[in-house]
Amino acid sequence: HITDNENLRTPIVCVMGHVDHGKTTLLDRIRGSSVAAGEAGAITQHIGATEVMIDSIIERSGASGMKNNFIVPGLLFIDTPGHHAFTSLRSRGGALADLAVVIVDINEGFMPQTKESLQILKRFKTPFVVVANKIDRIHGWQPHESASFLETYNKQSERVRTDLDNKFYEIVGELYNSGFNSERYDRVSDFQRNIGIIPISAVTGEGIPDLLMVLLGLAQKFLESNLHYNASGPGEGTILEVKEEKGLGTTIDIILYDGTLKKGDTIVVGSLGEPIQTKVRALLKPNPMGEISAEEKFQNVESVTAAIGVKISAPNLDDALSGATVRAANPENIETIVKEVQEEL
Ligand code: GTP
Ligand code: MG
Repeated sequence: HITDNENLRTPIVCVMGHVDHGKTTLLDRIRGSSVAAGEAGAITQHIGATEVMIDSIIERSGASGMKNNFIVPGLLFIDTPGHHAFTSLRSRGGALADLAVVIVDINEGFMPQTKESLQILKRFKTPFVVVANKIDRIHGWQPHESASFLETYNKQSERVRTDLDNKFYEIVGELYNSGFNSERYDRVSDFQRNIGIIPISAVTGEGIPDLLMVLLGLAQKFLESNLHYNASGPGEGTILEVKEEKGLGTTIDIILYDGTLKKGDTIVVGSLGEPIQTKVRALLKPNPMGEISAEEKFQNVESVTAAIGVKISAPNLDDALSGATVRAANPENIETIVKEVQEEL
């Protein structure tokens, strides 16, 4: 078993699902923040990224005795909008993801963007788990803050458990109609053949320890070969958003998915026309557990290593294009890289 985690990058986990089913609230709960409450109409309108370190995942999942069994450095969560207008943002998130979480409100069941999320994941062959959210809304539910699902489930009345089971099997049926076999996560022995479903409440935190453990398990089991990378290689990423920032001009928020990007690096940035060639003036990292799209304070750092969400300040970014590639280049390979970045559009 590999215990050297030097060259394993952070898996990128995309959270997808129908509008209002609880994606941002789930991430708020995991990082201990309140981004959802600050959103206009509580609707997410952009892609966000938050890095959660392994120590904090282990603490939240109650698996402190297992620390040495994990070889990934953490999980990089990407939040996507569920509103129907944002298909291209969801697609971009799906394309970037190593793993995904599809969130379904257990009381509302499958909705159009639930199905759309599954189609996107099928297209990119992304492994995923399903979360059946808002179990605390089941009539008569007795919440047990941050408890594991089985612990809280076993403490509910028989009527509540039956109600949950019935709603749960509707989701199993819908997944079957979409071409996926699924089961409750604790009954899945082969996560490659069966999709695990984890009942949770993003508000009370119930089931979230289970979700984090399943995600770590999946990341280690199925992604290990994809997560080896060249940490000292040139940085490569995708633009999430092109944003005006006070005092900085136009900046780009990117997900760096390979290599290392340094201050002063020459970068090639995809745009509608000829790719932009510019130099990194500043690399701005959200604070630990911070959400890049909502942060106001950033750490100005010398370099960043994948996978991470980072804001780049550089001259001439006005025509940068969301969804396009950013790659570090040197005088020897810049011609080739410009061509490749253009061809990727
Ligand atoms: P979009 O980004 O617009 O697609 O929505 P979202 O999926 O991010 O949903 P959001 O997290 O903004 O939650 C929508 C509403 O549902 C908010 O009022 C949340 O407080 C509420 N909510 C989310 N999860 C839960 C839950 O587990 N239990 C309860 N009771 N309410 C929840
Ligand atoms: Mg949201």
